[in-house]
Amino acid sequence: MSGGHSTYTPKSGLGRWMDARLPLPRLLYDSFVAYPVPRNLNYAYTFGGILTLMLALQIVTGVVLAMHYAPNTELAFVSVEKIMRDVNSGWLLRYLHANGASFFFVAVYVHIFRGLYYGSYKAPRELLWILGCIIYLLMMATAFMGYVLPWGQMSFWGATVITGFFTAIPLVGDWIQQLLLGGFAVDNPTLNRFFSLHYLLPFMIAGVVVLHIWALHVTGQTNPTGIEVKQKTDTVAFTPYATIKDGFAMILFLLVFAYFVFYIPGFLGHADNSIEANPLKTPAHIVPEWYFLPFYAILRAITFNIGPIDSKLGGVLAMFGSIAVLFVVPWLDTSKVRSAAYRPWYKLFFWLFVANAIFLGWLGSRPAEGVYVALAQASTFYYFAFFLILMPLLGLIETPRRLPNSITEAVLEKNKAGAPALAQPAGER
Ligand code: HEM
Repeated sequence: MSGGHSTYTPKSGLGRWMDARLPLPRLLYDSFVAYPVPRNLNYAYTFGGILTLMLALQIVTGVVLAMHYAPNTELAFVSVEKIMRDVNSGWLLRYLHANGASFFFVAVYVHIFRGLYYGSYKAPRELLWILGCIIYLLMMATAFMGYVLPWGQMSFWGATVITGFFTAIPLVGDWIQQLLLGGFAVDNPTLNRFFSLHYLLPFMIAGVVVLHIWALHVTGQTNPTGIEVKQKTDTVAFTPYATIKDGFAMILFLLVFAYFVFYIPGFLGHADNSIEANPLKTPAHIVPEWYFLPFYAILRAITFNIGPIDSKLGGVLAMFGSIAVLFVVPWLDTSKVRSAAYRPWYKLFFWLFVANAIFLGWLGSRPAEGVYVALAQASTFYYFAFFLILMPLLGLIETPRRLPNSITEAVLEKNKAGAPALAQPAGER
């Protein structure tokens, strides 16, 4: 996967035998040992590794849970109760998997915001970014379908509400909804197809992650300065430098994760999902999981018709548009400078965007009435304005700060006394 020249030399006879037939050790060595990474990567760059770990955890715990889960409306809820009470360590598996989904989203949001801050999506990394957007879409579909499986009240009513949106699409809407449901309402066929797809999608995510990392290893990573690698002293070898840093970040992340799993396992979930699904009793407030709340707020913000588009379709278009806009970010940002560290105005609007996204999430948890509607409309406007107005405009009018000549210069400027302490560049060991 590494873009450069291979420096791998097999040390044993078996190694040479393997190298001549299937050079997998060479691929791993070139990609994860000798691979040169910018020497100034900070902890925001450790979340890709954390995401890989979380994906693996979700697959392992999910496969074992599936051994005990029954995808049938008569049995699903009790089979989950059985997992919690009777299956050896079943409670742990379930809490790891349910909280793991939330922490997966925490990591992906940090990862996406890091990309937006450091301009990771800019040429030549557009495809790398788009592959990330595809992963994100697949993650959302997987999480949505997974939430239906325990067949609690929120599972059932969440699925009913979300699949109902599709009917807003002209001509084909009803057909899409019936295809998703396998009938005219959320029922056994729905649960069956959601289970099947929930099992399949993580493996598709894993496939796209391989492409994502392949693309990354062709272009190389960015770094906080946004300047490309120019000389050997700009980089260090992936192992031990990035491996140790990523490993340390994973341990810290897992510590917080473990706190949730062992001390407050239900904190991120909704109490109503501990009640078995009842198609005759609608909960007072139907809310999705926290990681969907900003999009839920955008959906409900469109309370007015826009020309021939009625408010329901408008809301659905705004919600899908808020994700679709991510795909074109590489072409919306007109700035020649990559990193926000050197763009004072972009930096300000970026942090406003982060605050606005969190605020949207909070609004998504409120009932869609009174002042909340107006606030959600204002927040939705800023969400789109950031991408469609500020990104193109700032690139044209903003005066960036002076850029260092190289990554090495930036590192030395930051820590003048650090010069002798510079680690050996990649490939000089
Ligand atoms: C399962 C989900 C994902 C996994 C396992 C994953 C994995 C990784 C890894 C290992 C890296 C290199 C380390 C790092 O920079 O953190 C990376 C970089 C990157 N990822 Fe992801 N990623 C995922 C989702 C996403 C998403 C959703 C996006 C964007 C929408 C994205 C965009 C990027 C970009 C642009 C880079 C290059 C960063 C740079 O060099 O500046 N990734 N990813």
